[in-house]
Amino acid sequence: MALQNDSFLQACRGVRPAHTPVWMMRQAGRYLPEYRAIRAKVSFNELCRTPELCAEVTLQPIDILGVDAAILFSDILVVFDALGVPVIFDPAPRIESPVRTAADVARLRWGDPREDVAYVYGAIRACKAALADRVPLIGFCGAPFTTLSYLVEGGGSKTFEHVKGLIFREPVVFAGLMEKMTDLLITYLKGQVDAGVDALQVFDSWAGALAPEDYREHVLPHLHRLVTEVQTAGVPVILFARGNANILADVATIPADVLGIDWSIGMDRAIDVVGAERVVQGNLDPTLLLSNKALIERRARAIVESGRRAKAHIFNLGHGISKHTDPALAKHMIQVVQSA
Ligand code: CP3
Repeated sequence: MALQNDSFLQACRGVRPAHTPVWMMRQAGRYLPEYRAIRAKVSFNELCRTPELCAEVTLQPIDILGVDAAILFSDILVVFDALGVPVIFDPAPRIESPVRTAADVARLRWGDPREDVAYVYGAIRACKAALADRVPLIGFCGAPFTTLSYLVEGGGSKTFEHVKGLIFREPVVFAGLMEKMTDLLITYLKGQVDAGVDALQVFDSWAGALAPEDYREHVLPHLHRLVTEVQTAGVPVILFARGNANILADVATIPADVLGIDWSIGMDRAIDVVGAERVVQGNLDPTLLLSNKALIERRARAIVESGRRAKAHIFNLGHGISKHTDPALAKHMIQVVQSA
C-alpha cells in the first residue's frame, strides 16, 4: 500500500525528497502533556504491554507535531522478557540482579522473542492500523553492546566498569554473550518487519563508553552481523552509535542504509568522515530545544544546509528529546526543517 508521506523512506533509500524529512528520537514521551495524561493512569511497563495504548502514544507526535515518521512506542529493554530478566522503570531502568558472574550467565533463559515479546508485535500491528499509511513506522532495538551493558551494569552507569571489566577480564565470555544477544536481536527485529514496520533503527546509545580500539575489536563485528542480516528482511536500517565521534569512521564501515549522527560533531565534519555517498540522520543538540525560536531556527537551518552535501539527509535531534521541552518549540523546529 502506498504511503501518503514517504519522504522519510525515500531519504532512507538515498533519494532526495521534496523537503528534508524530520522526526525526533524519543518523540513520544514525557514532554507531551497528552503522554503524561496516559502515564497518570498506567505504568510504563503496562503501557509497553498494551498495544492499543502504544498505538495511541505513537501517533501523538504525528498528530500534534507533524513529523514525517512514527517510531514505535516501546523500549530497548523490553526484550529482556525473553531472558527472564525483569526491568523496573523508575523512570530510569533498573535490574534487580545484574548479570556479572558465570552463574548469572547460566541463569539467562534465551527464549524466543516472537513468543516472549509478542506484545511488541501486537503494538506494531495496532500502530500500522491507526496510522492508515499516513507516515511510515520505525521499529527498533538496542544494539548488542548497549543492551548487554544494561544487563551487566543493572542500569545506567558513568564508568561502565562492570561491563568493561567483563570485556577485559573475560573476553571469551563477553564474546559468547554478544553472539547470543546478536542472534536474539536479529530474531526480534525480523519479527518486527513481519509485523509491519517500514524501517528499523539500532540504538548503540552507549558506544561512547569504549575506547575506539576496544569498540572495533569487541563490538563492531557483532553490530555488522546484526545490521547486514536484518537488511535481508527488506527494510532500511538506521544505525545510531552515540557518544564518541571518534568511532564514526569505524561505524561507517557497516553498510547501514542510514548513519545516525549524534550532536557531538558538526554535520559538515560528519559527512566528511562517513563520505558524501552515505545517507545521514541528525543532529541538533536536543538541549537547543530549551532555548528560543530564533536560535532553534538558525541552528536547524545550518544543519539542513550541511545535510544537502550528503546523498540524502533525515533531520533529527542528536539524541533523545528532553522532557523539559516545550512542544511548541519542537513543532517550530519541525516546520522550519520541512520548509527550508
Ligand atoms: O523514540 C520514541 O519516542 C519511542 C520510544 C522509546 C523509548 N525508549 C520510550 C521511553 C525509545 C526508542 C526508547 C529507546 C531507549 N530506551 C534507549 C535508546 C535511545 C537513547 O536515549 O539513547 C535507551 C538507552 C533506553 C533505556 C531507557 N528507557 C532509559 C534510559 C529510560 C529513562 C528515560 C528518562 O527520560 O528518564 C527509559 C524509560 C523510557 N523509555 C521513557 C520513555 C518515554 C520514560 C518513561 C516514563 O514514561 O516514565
